[in-house]
Amino acid sequence: MLTNIKIRKEITSDNFQKTNILDDCFGVNRLNRTVYMYRKSLPIKALSLISCFKKHPMKVVGTISFYRVFVEKTDCLLLGPLAVQKKYQGKGFGKKLIEIGLKKARSNNEKICFVSGEYSYYKEFGFDRIINKNLNISILGPLSFEDLLICELKDHAASLLKNNSKLLPLIN
Ligand SMILES: CC(C)(COP(=O)(O)OP(=O)(O)OC[C@H]1O[C@@H](n2cnc3c(N)ncnc32)[C@H](O)[C@@H]1OP(=O)(O)O)[C@@H](O)C(=O)NCCC(=O)NCCS
Repeated sequence: MLTNIKIRKEITSDNFQKTNILDDCFGVNRLNRTVYMYRKSLPIKALSLISCFKKHPMKVVGTISFYRVFVEKTDCLLLGPLAVQKKYQGKGFGKKLIEIGLKKARSNNEKICFVSGEYSYYKEFGFDRIINKNLNISILGPLSFEDLLICELKDHAASLLKNNSKLLPLIN
């Protein structure tokens, strides 16, 4: 992992570079993906982070956001989108965004974070398959998240969740 990576809060002027990275990584049709049904509100500002080189703080290399979601009345986080500019992938920018993002989430008293992603990538950050927590949580839309993963930010927080329930977005 590079040692000259900086993580900072996202600012409005990052928007153009951030959108380019997301379009490049997920395609311009990304807004039609099921997960965007959970991204109709604004992402949580305090957890919207940018990775960059220490020497070039205004040049966006990677981005992470978290959205508010609910399982019944329990408020949770949904991690994503997470993306790193293609030419800088595999150098630790993504890892650092997740580590700092989850650390900030814990200090903001968040209890549970979900992500739809590859278990092989997310397991080292404490994510597990919901099925391993004996949970059955369905999602909006016709598709299913093939890999809905959960990270308990507080010990045993998954026990707060009602089983056989639905993951719902925040409606503004
Ligand atoms: C996924 C992504 C954010 C990871 O960021 P990154 O900066 O490239 O990854 P890092 O350098 O932090 O990766 C750290 C480790 O994860 C591994 N890794 C990367 N992608 C992986 C994957 N899909 N599955 C398993 N391991 C993966 C790397 O090999 C590296 O392992 P190491 O530390 O043992 O060497 C980035 O590759 C990306 O933007 N991909 C396209 C968009 C995407 O898929 N986003 C995630 C959607 S859930």
